Amino acid sequence: MTTSQPPAFPDGFLWGASTAAHQVEGNNVGSDFWQAEHDGSRGLPERSGDACDSFHRWPEDLDIARDLGLNAYRFSVEWARVVPAPGHPSAAMLDHYRRIIEGCGQRGLTPVVTLHHFTSPAWLSAGGGWTSGEAVAHFADYVRAVLPILDGVPWVCTINEPNMVALVAARRRHGGGEPVPSFVPPDPGVTAALARAHEEARDLLASVPGLRSGWTVANQNVQDHGAGPDRTAELSYLVDDQYIDLAKDDDFIGVQAYSRLRAGGDGVIAPGPDDRRTMMDWEYYPLALEDAVRHTAARLGGSTPLLVTENGIATADDDERIAYTTEAVTGLARAMADGIDVRGYLHWSLLDNYEWGSWTPTFGLVAVDRTTFRRTVKASARWFGRLVQDPAAVLGGKAAS
Ligand code: BGC
Repeated sequence: MTTSQPPAFPDGFLWGASTAAHQVEGNNVGSDFWQAEHDGSRGLPERSGDACDSFHRWPEDLDIARDLGLNAYRFSVEWARVVPAPGHPSAAMLDHYRRIIEGCGQRGLTPVVTLHHFTSPAWLSAGGGWTSGEAVAHFADYVRAVLPILDGVPWVCTINEPNMVALVAARRRHGGGEPVPSFVPPDPGVTAALARAHEEARDLLASVPGLRSGWTVANQNVQDHGAGPDRTAELSYLVDDQYIDLAKDDDFIGVQAYSRLRAGGDGVIAPGPDDRRTMMDWEYYPLALEDAVRHTAARLGGSTPLLVTENGIATADDDERIAYTTEAVTGLARAMADGIDVRGYLHWSLLDNYEWGSWTPTFGLVAVDRTTFRRTVKASARWFGRLVQDPAAVLGGKAAS
């Protein structure tokens, strides 16, 4: 494909950054992840603690996003806070999240609200979690409780990365010191429960005028590196495609992409010493976003709009963040120039935050002091702000290939 045009993004394109409650709020004490951090059951090296204290400092976070020139902010509502005990939603917590939604509006930021971002109430997990039989009904009750505060919210992600939730559940079954094989398929029982929960949520959310709902998929970008087309397609179906297919009746699908998964003749090829890697030990692969967007659109037949709900890199080198994001967004522009309907790009993440057991990988456009919670806007954030104002000037002719 060749285009001499500079990258064009339509009017109203969302440019923003994403966060998730447990990773930034702090003291999410009623959640299952907090519990796991403290009971040692998952061998997590570090605890979330106060996180970025965004529970209290969200106005400052929104001010930063606005001052950078962004027009969207993705955050999640925490089920464990909204429903601290089954059947007893907290009006005060709902009011807290409503204030964030209104705070977005006051700053010209379109809110993109996620209802489930990995964490569930500890009481749900204690009762068996997603496969308990009651989980879907509990999730529907939670969604019903949240509905009144979603007035005016145009984008709602029901469940973040169901494929990762089901994959983590499957991997945890390999506990007890037994080595985990290089490929473990996502848990089918958890997948089925999440699919039902998503459908129920979608039906409930349809009652809010102007609200579009969808779920987000962590695109693994399975590529054939010796496995052969059949095995590659099979792996892709297990980790990505079955979840993409389930979005076909949704208002949109959230695309999240960071790297790729190479399917070799002897199984998954883990990034090795010869591969450039990020702080997550993932292969440095900025084309992940273009691949994921093209794959998702092709899989859905072009009928469902896409929203990039996450893309970014864990690096201590801020120049590398700029380089990675330049390539990723350039690839996105190429895909859009080919007619793929993408409504926005939300960078992961606004803040350096708690990376599910560790504080080491830094994905943020903004650094956060762990003791004073002082925010420091990085050069990459200012670069991203300039990109948002004038993508053509910042990316130049890079969309041409
Ligand atoms: C998740 C985020 C996470 C990021 C980097 C995504 O899978 O939605 O919560 O921090 O990737 O690992």
